[in-house]
Amino acid sequence: METVLSGIRSTGNLHLGNYFGALKNFVKMQHENKCFFFIADYHSLTTHPTPEDIRKNAKQILIEYVAAGLDPEVSTLYFQSDVPEVLELYLFLNMNAYVGELERCTTFKEKIRQQPDNVNAGLLTYPTLMAADILIHKADKVPVGKDQEQHLEMTRLFASRFNRLYKIDYFKEPQAYNFGKNLIKIPGLDGSLKMGKSEGNAIYLIDTPEVIRKKVMRAKTDAGPTSPHQEKSQEIQNLFAIMEHVSSVETLEFFEKTYADCSIRYGDMKKQLAEDIIAFCNPIRERILELSSQDKRIEQIIHTGAEKARESARKTIAEVREIIGFRNT
Ligand code: TRP
Repeated sequence: METVLSGIRSTGNLHLGNYFGALKNFVKMQHENKCFFFIADYHSLTTHPTPEDIRKNAKQILIEYVAAGLDPEVSTLYFQSDVPEVLELYLFLNMNAYVGELERCTTFKEKIRQQPDNVNAGLLTYPTLMAADILIHKADKVPVGKDQEQHLEMTRLFASRFNRLYKIDYFKEPQAYNFGKNLIKIPGLDGSLKMGKSEGNAIYLIDTPEVIRKKVMRAKTDAGPTSPHQEKSQEIQNLFAIMEHVSSVETLEFFEKTYADCSIRYGDMKKQLAEDIIAFCNPIRERILELSSQDKRIEQIIHTGAEKARESARKTIAEVREIIGFRNT
């Protein structure tokens, strides 16, 4: 059985793109692997959130994860900040990470552009903290998007450098978890290729039916097909792409057919799509609301996750201290 670890930044609610792009696979994957899902709340400090935001955001993601099907009995769900052992490994890895290579990291360069007034050392060493997250549980596989591949590459570099320095085959080099044909990109309803929080075009799992209807009815379309089997514009491709995931085969076929023979009415299609998205989101939303009112249960889940994650982390730290030459008290 392989160990899989996934981290998520603790901002914002989860949307359909998160669900079909990753969560849906996680729900299945958790039964086939030893899974760790954590919320990277230490990492979020690079942008200086308030204490209220920290508490609220991390908890909200945990609630939404559970509501969407991650099972705290099966997987280890935890907050990064509940596992301070990560910071000890972060320190050790930093001693062996070079400023030059950290400065060359694409995400760092991007951050300098985004927040020129707050280029803190935490931003520079973001990749070593991420490497510590991964190596602390000796993860084999890490599901990452394109933007995180370089960080994973650096994790392998830090792992092999540690092994070389201490002449020991200790850390394994983690690989990207590949969803293969299950890798799904949900486009936006604004004609863009990606649904995302920063794109401002997301439909959230907690959106109410009214909000979903409004968002879908506002979706961009075109003037409509004028000749049979006309190629679809990006906007229309996007509507169909989302429909593929939430609607029935019959519904999809019906609108494909009416598009092909030019009798399609986009208004009808949007109405149907909205109802199907609502039918999909509603059960999840209800579970989110239910869990949100069960603070004791959530606290219990957070506590259990922290215990499980720390047990694994403590073991690694004890071994690493030993390798480096420190005492274990
Ligand atoms: N950097 C990741 C992101 O921005 C979040 C993250 C932090 C992470 N630590 C991780 C992801 C460890 C995977 C493994 O999305």
